[in-house]
Amino acid sequence: MAEMQVTLGNTTLRNPVVLAAGTCGVMGEIKDAINLKNIGAIITKSITQEPRIGNDPVRIATLKGGMLNAIGLANEGVDSFIKNQSTKAGALNTTVIGSIAGDCIDAYVSVANAMNSVDGIELVEVNVSCPNTSDGLEFGGCPKRLATLLTEIKQVLTNKGMIVKLSAAPGDIRPHAASAIHSGADALTLINTIPSLAIDVETKRTKISRGVGGASGAMIHPAAVRVVHDVYRDVAKDANIPIIGTGGTMHWKDAAEFILAGASAVGIGTASFVNPSIAPNIANKLTDWVARQGCRSISELVGSFSLQ
Ligand SMILES: Cc1cc2nc3c(=O)[nH]c(=O)nc-3n(C[C@H](O)[C@H](O)[C@H](O)COP(=O)(O)O)c2cc1C
Repeated sequence: MAEMQVTLGNTTLRNPVVLAAGTCGVMGEIKDAINLKNIGAIITKSITQEPRIGNDPVRIATLKGGMLNAIGLANEGVDSFIKNQSTKAGALNTTVIGSIAGDCIDAYVSVANAMNSVDGIELVEVNVSCPNTSDGLEFGGCPKRLATLLTEIKQVLTNKGMIVKLSAAPGDIRPHAASAIHSGADALTLINTIPSLAIDVETKRTKISRGVGGASGAMIHPAAVRVVHDVYRDVAKDANIPIIGTGGTMHWKDAAEFILAGASAVGIGTASFVNPSIAPNIANKLTDWVARQGCRSISELVGSFSLQ
């Protein structure tokens, strides 16, 4: 059988399939539907310093080819997370990645510091790419501000790897990716949802209350593959920094496409809402695909496609 393990920082995932932040529960509640021993990792809901109630409903709309959401980082806040959720991490049968978000450097650092103390959490994903809050792209939109933030966070993550989750919204995000890597990122997650708008033509109102939300699902997949390809080829490959390709993976072929474009692992979000057991199925099909390519390890296929 082909070798499917993937290494992010000092952590080895048993396979490259990762459940994306905010789409598998706060702390892997999707375990009630699937056996987590068949996937590489779960990422928690993004946790902030203070509790957040999120945006007003309606917060989700189903669209052709995906969904639009503006949850607005609703979460219980880090104190409650540490008390009530973090103790569950060690019992999940997979690697746990803690996702953090914030509205200023101090807030990010305090959540990172708290995550650093949780035994069952092996890596921390820094979400600087939420399109659904007024400050969600404050740091992810500017390479300089991003570097300042990540340098501070890196200092408190004394025993966890740091993953940085970027948005495609700035267009060319290679400078942002380079900034994250120079500031100590052990891996990149590309991409978050894409700022988008949907209008109900009868009511002439937006389909979600906030107006603009984040699009996810099949319709964003080609955009995500383009970002992964460009960042891998021009920034991450030489730095030897792995990418978790995320966006619109609905089928194992979408995951394989990410691998060819330069991702070492693949995040699955919206697809789990359609079919919660899709992630382990994709992991199995990817293993078969690697073997059919005549490869002993999936790593041989990472970035094996490149535009001239
Ligand atoms: C309902 C919903 C909630 C999400 N919550 C978060 C979150 O808390 N933190 C985060 O970094 N990304 C969040 N995301 C973005 C996903 O992790 C993922 O990056 C995005 O949906 C693209 O992947 P997909 O097309 O496979 O869903 C959320 C997405 C959805 C649909």
